[in-house]
Amino acid sequence: MIMQRIKPLSRILAEGSNEEQGLRRSLGPWALTAMGIGAIIGTGIFVLTGVASATRAGPSLTISFVVAGIVSALAALCYAEVSSKIPISGSAYTYTYATMGEFLAWIVGWGLVLEYALGASTVSVGWSGYFTFILHTLFNLNIPQAWQHSHWDATPGIANLPAAGIIFLITALLVRGTKESGTVNAVIVTIKVAVVLFFIAIGIGHVNQANYQLPPGPNAGAGGFFPFGLAGMFGGAAFIFFAYIGFDAVSTTAEEAKNPARDLPIGIIGSLVICTVLYIVVVAILNGMVPFYTLNVNFPVAYAVDSVGLAWAGVIISFGAIAGLTTVLLVMMYGQTRVFYAMSRDGLIPAVFVRLHPAWRTPWISQILFGLLIAAAGAFFPISILGSLTNMGTLAAFVLVSIAVPALRKRHPEMQGAFRVPFGPYIIPGLSAIAALFLIYFLKVGNPLVWGFFPLVWLGFLIWLVVGLIFYFSYGRMKSTVALELAEGLAIKQPKVN
Ligand code: ALA
Repeated sequence: MIMQRIKPLSRILAEGSNEEQGLRRSLGPWALTAMGIGAIIGTGIFVLTGVASATRAGPSLTISFVVAGIVSALAALCYAEVSSKIPISGSAYTYTYATMGEFLAWIVGWGLVLEYALGASTVSVGWSGYFTFILHTLFNLNIPQAWQHSHWDATPGIANLPAAGIIFLITALLVRGTKESGTVNAVIVTIKVAVVLFFIAIGIGHVNQANYQLPPGPNAGAGGFFPFGLAGMFGGAAFIFFAYIGFDAVSTTAEEAKNPARDLPIGIIGSLVICTVLYIVVVAILNGMVPFYTLNVNFPVAYAVDSVGLAWAGVIISFGAIAGLTTVLLVMMYGQTRVFYAMSRDGLIPAVFVRLHPAWRTPWISQILFGLLIAAAGAFFPISILGSLTNMGTLAAFVLVSIAVPALRKRHPEMQGAFRVPFGPYIIPGLSAIAALFLIYFLKVGNPLVWGFFPLVWLGFLIWLVVGLIFYFSYGRMKSTVALELAEGLAIKQPKVN
């Protein structure tokens, strides 16, 4: 019943190849890998690492990063296979539509909106933290507390204005066009990776082994490498999973890739591998430089360097962090409108979202509308809630993309694709789905609970789903162009592809 409306692949691929009417193809393998790194390295490593070390995992956060890296790698393999077969805008949404039908595709698309939009809001709050730190340290300028915090922050304020401000700037850049923002992205990604390497180079000499084995204490929990036990380590993994989000954004750019079947897997897996290695090294050094419980600040990387007497290096790192967070925002806000572009093209949301700007060829209306919503969320909600909800939406999409791998092989055995997950269609995708569910469970740790046991973040996601379902049944289900086409018997015979 719910699998009834499967979008014919012939139609999906025809939409993507119709370049004249569609988006401009300008991205090669390097641009895609850079785009992945641009999306991945950001608030997760520069900001959330501090809170996660101090309150969840302690030095074992290094292992948390390995765990979250494995979950992401499993999903990345699935994304790589499916995106090499269906290299069309819309990412997980499109894959699900082609394999499991419209209803589940809607749920995935709706979850992806949460991932990209709230993800961008989360990053904007991190951006604001480093920005206000630099204003204060370098220029002794202080934005009033009321205008740098939301009402729900530990230090309550009214609205986080720098967070909203950066979202407005990025929106303007994206409305202007992909190519320009792609160039800016490549330059900033280079700066970001350089800053991470810089931190590793200067931090490694200041690691104190004793910080990995602190004695028990009021701040240090049970002490040792696992001060909050295994649950803390897994809770840390679920929380900093945010740091890995972004490789999947590469797959939303499929219609702007020059050779998507080959280059999307390169972009997805390449960017993830590079970032995983950098993360594990950074976190190990960070926790070795200072006692983990002192890292509960919004600028932990700069803080650690500062604490060992290298204030100048802290300032350099802060500039790099700001640049890095800016590219994450670019990719997330870009990815978000591309998912909407795909959903709207299918008639599931109003047509206004596919209208491209006559000169710039960008979906400018949805870019501006979402810019406003993302800015509002960043201004009025705290980073912990925004980040955890982003993780929920992303992990839910991971589960469905994992299932899409065997589903697609079964439905379209003729499709080879440029990339296939190793060990057959069940082992890696099955592990990937289980791993994502595992992290969803551990999102509980450190997050507020309702009714004594139910995490607020699960509830938030359920509410988001219900709103999405109401929207689907009152609009999309009736307007779906795939349904109309199938009803009229217009679906063409599937061509042999790839
Ligand atoms: N991975 C991205 C970040 O950490 C979303 O900011």
